[in-house]
Amino acid sequence: MSKKAYIKALANYIPEKVVTNYDFEKTLDTSHDWIVTRTGIETRHMSRDDESAYDMAMSAINNLKLQGIDLSEVDGIIVPTTTKEYIFPSTATLIQNALGLKNCFTLDLSAACSGYIYSLNTATSLIESGMCKNVLVVATEKITKDPNPEDRGTVILFGDSASVALVSAREDDGRGIIAMQMKSEVREDIISLKASGSAFPITPERMDNHEHQIFMEGSEVFKIAVTEFANSMNQVLEKAGVSLDQVALFVPHQANIRIIQYVAKKSNFPIEKVSLIIHKYGNTSASSIGLGLTEAYHEGRIKKDDYVLLTAFGGGLTWGSTLIKWA
Ligand code: UT7
Repeated sequence: MSKKAYIKALANYIPEKVVTNYDFEKTLDTSHDWIVTRTGIETRHMSRDDESAYDMAMSAINNLKLQGIDLSEVDGIIVPTTTKEYIFPSTATLIQNALGLKNCFTLDLSAACSGYIYSLNTATSLIESGMCKNVLVVATEKITKDPNPEDRGTVILFGDSASVALVSAREDDGRGIIAMQMKSEVREDIISLKASGSAFPITPERMDNHEHQIFMEGSEVFKIAVTEFANSMNQVLEKAGVSLDQVALFVPHQANIRIIQYVAKKSNFPIEKVSLIIHKYGNTSASSIGLGLTEAYHEGRIKKDDYVLLTAFGGGLTWGSTLIKWA
C-alpha cells in the first residue's frame, strides 16, 4: 500500500518579551491606532539578545517532547528560516546533533514567509517517495533583528518565534496531506534582504545606508499577495477536488489582517473559520503558519477528517498551499 504523509504532532515556542505598539510610539512617528487599523497587529514577541534562531528551534522541539513525542526515528530535518544560525553548518544539522540522530539528512530551506509550506510540501514528497518516514519541520525566525529600526513601514510588522511539525508516513486511507502547490517569481525590486549574500557583502557604507536590512514596498507586495493567495488556494483545492465550502479551517500566512480579510471576503469564506494570530504575534515569517496551525489544533479546532487549508505568500516572491485531510 502506498504511503501518505500526515502531521503527527505540533508545537510552538514564543519568546517571553512582548513589544506593544505603544513601545514603538516612543521612538517612531507612528501610533497604536495606525498599526492596528493598517495591519491588525497589537503586539509581537521578541527573542532575547542571547537567544538565536537555533535556541528558539530547540525550545519548540522541547515543547514537542513535553507532549511525549518520540523523535528517535526522525530521518529528515528541514528548517525553513531567513535567520539561520550560520551559513554552515546548517541550523538543521545543529538540531540533528542536539537530538543525537544518526540516520538523518538535514536541510535549511530559504523561502521567506512561505518556508513552512515549502517545507511541509518537501517533507510530503520525501515521505511519499519512500525516502523518509519521519521528517521534522522546524520553522524558526529571529526576524526582529532584520528591519531598519528607523523604518516605521517595516519594523512594526515583525515578531520572533519557532514552530515545529512532525510529518510522518501512514498507510494511505485518504487522510493526510492530500494536495500541494508552490510557485516563485523574482521581485527584488519590491521586497528583499540582501545582506551577507555573496553578491552583497556588508560594508560600513551599506550599513550606514541601511542596505543590509529588510527592504519592502509594502503596498506593491500587498497587491500581488491578495491575487496569488487566492490563485494558490484555488489551485490546491482544484487538484484535490475539494471545494472551499468543505474547508473547516484556513490557516493563512499572517502578514497583514487586511490581506486575510480581503481574501476571505473575495472567496466568501467565513472569517470565523480562519486561524488568526497576527494581533498577538505580528508577522513571524516562516513560523507564522506553524503558529496558527498549532494554536488552532491545541484549541481543539481541528477534528479527524476535517479539511485544513494552509496558504502562504512571502519574499522571493514565493507562495504556496498545503491541503490536509486531518488524520
Ligand atoms: O510577509 C511577507 C510579505 N509581506 C506582506 O505581505 C506585506 C504586505 N504589505 C502590507 O502589509 C502593507 O503594505 C504595510 C502594512 C506594510 C503598509 O501599509 P499600507 O497601508 O500599504 O501603507 P503604505 O505603505 O501605502 O503607506 C501609507 C502611509 C505612508 O504615508 P504617506 O506617504 O501617505 O504620507 C506611510 O509613510 O502610511 C505611512 N506609514 C505609517 N504611518 C504611521 C507607513 N508605516 C507607518 C507607521 N505608522 N508604522
